[in-house]
Amino acid sequence: MSPSSDTSSLETLNWVGGAEEGFLRLIDQTRLPTEFLRIDCHDVPTVWEAIRSLRVRGAPAIGIAAGYGAVLGAQKAKGQPATEIRQAIGEATAYLRTSRPTAVNLFWACDRIDRVVEASKDISSADLLERVLAEAHEIAAEDKAMCRSIGRFGAELVTSGNGILTHCNAGGLATADYGTALAVIFAADEAGKQVHVFADETRPLLQGARLTAWELQRRGVSVTLICDNMAAQVMKEGKIQMVVVGADRIAANGDTANKIGTYGVALLAKAHGIPFYVAAPSSTFDLALADGSGIPIEQRDPSEVTHGMGRQTAPSGVSVYNPAFDVTPAELIAGIITERGIVQPVNARTIRDTVGAAFENSPNAG
Ligand code: MRU
Repeated sequence: MSPSSDTSSLETLNWVGGAEEGFLRLIDQTRLPTEFLRIDCHDVPTVWEAIRSLRVRGAPAIGIAAGYGAVLGAQKAKGQPATEIRQAIGEATAYLRTSRPTAVNLFWACDRIDRVVEASKDISSADLLERVLAEAHEIAAEDKAMCRSIGRFGAELVTSGNGILTHCNAGGLATADYGTALAVIFAADEAGKQVHVFADETRPLLQGARLTAWELQRRGVSVTLICDNMAAQVMKEGKIQMVVVGADRIAANGDTANKIGTYGVALLAKAHGIPFYVAAPSSTFDLALADGSGIPIEQRDPSEVTHGMGRQTAPSGVSVYNPAFDVTPAELIAGIITERGIVQPVNARTIRDTVGAAFENSPNAG
């Protein structure tokens, strides 16, 4: 670990104040790496917009934001009977579910909030508000713990001297703290292993360049930024011994949706005999989906491709296809690093054995 590294928590998002008057504060990730700004969300539409426009992004962070967003929804009916609060929360979670379709953590968090409301019959409106805030805090606290655990398990897979390629940003910014794929790297680094990271820039929105390179630099981890189309060459040059990425939704058989381009990286890794790992908490599994064919893939605005760098880079009116995610088939994945251990080999049985217990009474149980 570099002596100049800053290992303090980023506080990607946090709740400020109490249940009745508090608000959600989050880092506006669209401004990084040149500006470090926080925005305060005082109502549900502001949280919805922050998720939709990627001010807060990354599967676990989206879920946590939605949990706190539900509290803001409840505040709207503050002082009214509990039935009004329940309805306001239900409306908030229903609306927040429409912000982005792929990361299952969003739906998992909204389900948790809805279940708390369902189970909280015959209590005062003030108590209901407190309970929903407590659940949102719990979602955030669990995520922090899961990320640390993923780091501990994943670091065992890293050999000192490894070059590690990652795609998009699965770091502290994408979670409550510490990350998933980057947790593996941070934990290996903290254990004294020498690692060098190659960060794909991750077109079109450059999460790798803007966020991953920034986070790694900030922590003093050695990093080289490459354009997405350089990964094959870098692998061929023998510079990569391991790939580790995050996930937005993992089906029961291990097929994994992650940022567009991940599937290509997995194919390249296979062609070069490099192990390709996914790091994700159990909240990212959707055991109700037998395989990846049912994962909804978000389609985003063409302007992200035609005006990605703040200026027009394509002819006006050109047809654009802009899926935000792709699905990597399970057979390309050497292992899935979870907070409950490493799923290896990746198949429906090993997944159920490792994370199945996390799904008791959950709609994502399958
Ligand atoms: O569109 P984004 O930036 O939200 O996409 C994020 C990713 O694809 C991450 O790799 C994934 O959410 C895992 S974050 C721990």
